[in-house]
Amino acid sequence: MTFNIDDLSKRKNDIVKKSVKIDYNLFENEGIGFDYEKMMSSSGLSFDDVRQIQLDSGVGNTPLRELKNLTRYARKFSKKGYGARIFIKDEANNLSGSFKARRAAISVHVAKKLGYKGVIAATSGNYGAAIAALAARAGLKAIIVQECFDSRNIAQPEILEKARACESFGAEVVQLSVGPELFLEFLELLDKTGYFNASLYSPYGIMGIETLGYELAEETLILTGKYPEVVVCTNAGGGNLTGTARGLKKAGANKTKIVASSVNLEGLHMASDTDFNRKSFTTGHTGFGVPFAVNPDRSDVPRSAARPLRYMDEYYTINQGSVFFITEALAVLEGYERGPAGNTSLAVAFKLAQSMLEDEIIIVQETEYTGAGKHHQPQLSFAKSNNIELKFGDVSEEVPGKNIVFPYSAGDIKIKEISVDKLRKSYLKKYKDVDLALLDKKYLCEELNVPLEKLNKLLADLGGDYERKKR
Ligand SMILES: Cc1ncc(COP(=O)(O)O)c(C=O)c1O
Repeated sequence: MTFNIDDLSKRKNDIVKKSVKIDYNLFENEGIGFDYEKMMSSSGLSFDDVRQIQLDSGVGNTPLRELKNLTRYARKFSKKGYGARIFIKDEANNLSGSFKARRAAISVHVAKKLGYKGVIAATSGNYGAAIAALAARAGLKAIIVQECFDSRNIAQPEILEKARACESFGAEVVQLSVGPELFLEFLELLDKTGYFNASLYSPYGIMGIETLGYELAEETLILTGKYPEVVVCTNAGGGNLTGTARGLKKAGANKTKIVASSVNLEGLHMASDTDFNRKSFTTGHTGFGVPFAVNPDRSDVPRSAARPLRYMDEYYTINQGSVFFITEALAVLEGYERGPAGNTSLAVAFKLAQSMLEDEIIIVQETEYTGAGKHHQPQLSFAKSNNIELKFGDVSEEVPGKNIVFPYSAGDIKIKEISVDKLRKSYLKKYKDVDLALLDKKYLCEELNVPLEKLNKLLADLGGDYERKKR
């Protein structure tokens, strides 16, 4: 498609507004902030409505399963009395095979209710299949815009598998090469078709995941008599963590620690043609997880409803080789083939469990099925064909894009903590030189999940206008 960049950029806000029927201006505060909760409640859908829509769509109510063998394995590397019970919430049981169906169910429902003829989503992954499947059930057209190829016209096996899934559900798939065209193509299609923008980042997308957190809390209470101590969420655009945390809180599990996990892809650039096929994970990695946490509004709607810093207690990264190792451990010890994205959390949980008490509970969102293109065997063959070295060794020597290092033993798996305070400071950097009087501190405390004292300290550490005013 050829488009007029200037014209599209000028009309961007109008196109988006028409395509999601949300007037984001209504939530803007004077100064810097906006009213997040007002935005979240503007959909007119209650939590019970969301549950019912999902029930009617073949989505949600997924099983929570204890991984007794994997727990026993983790305890081999724990001190006596340690090694928390590991459970998974098996999201592969959703229509289209991933937790993304929870998000898609609500967007498709709203699109249909508002009288749109079709839905459009920009996504290379599970969300495309979820939208395509749910649109098919609702009798709506679906267009999926995919960033698919590098300039050699080569695509990741996982992305190709997703395109096939979307097409089998009757969607039209627009496949693009890596580059900035994705958003423009998306806008142009919204404008030309008048279809609904099934953004991952609208309030509908995030409300859909609240049920996941809520179910988690309810089911753990029934199975074990208490809420989980820890829930680990694979983090990319931040919606998974945001929705899950909100759902846990809605259920009353206020003390559960919310841990984010991402595969470490440091040094690889997401928009780079040469790096595009040098990563063995298409999502759940730091290339999305970190920038979306510190700048959530880089999404395809003016205010993203995915705001992970509002809820994140801790954030860990793990290397690719350890995730592949745990993927195999899950298969050979538990008879489950799942992932890859959810196994990022599983690998982190495997490690964290070892420093938790035996009667504590850690839950992993096993967010997706595995299949021909997602399976670790084709992923590793693809990596090899891109001259990535595969080897056993010290996992801390893995260099994303150059090698994948598997641990010799699960006891050698390491995780690395990202300081949440550092992310908060990166978030605040854009306000460094803003006049203090213009900063809405109440908003910033909520946005960063910190008390006022701590916010003041973070601002002081950054210097800028804050320091000037203090002197
Ligand atoms: C299977 C799976 N798990 C986890 C994630 C991360 O979700 P989010 O982007 O909302 O952080 C994704 C998103 O791409 C996913 O497809």
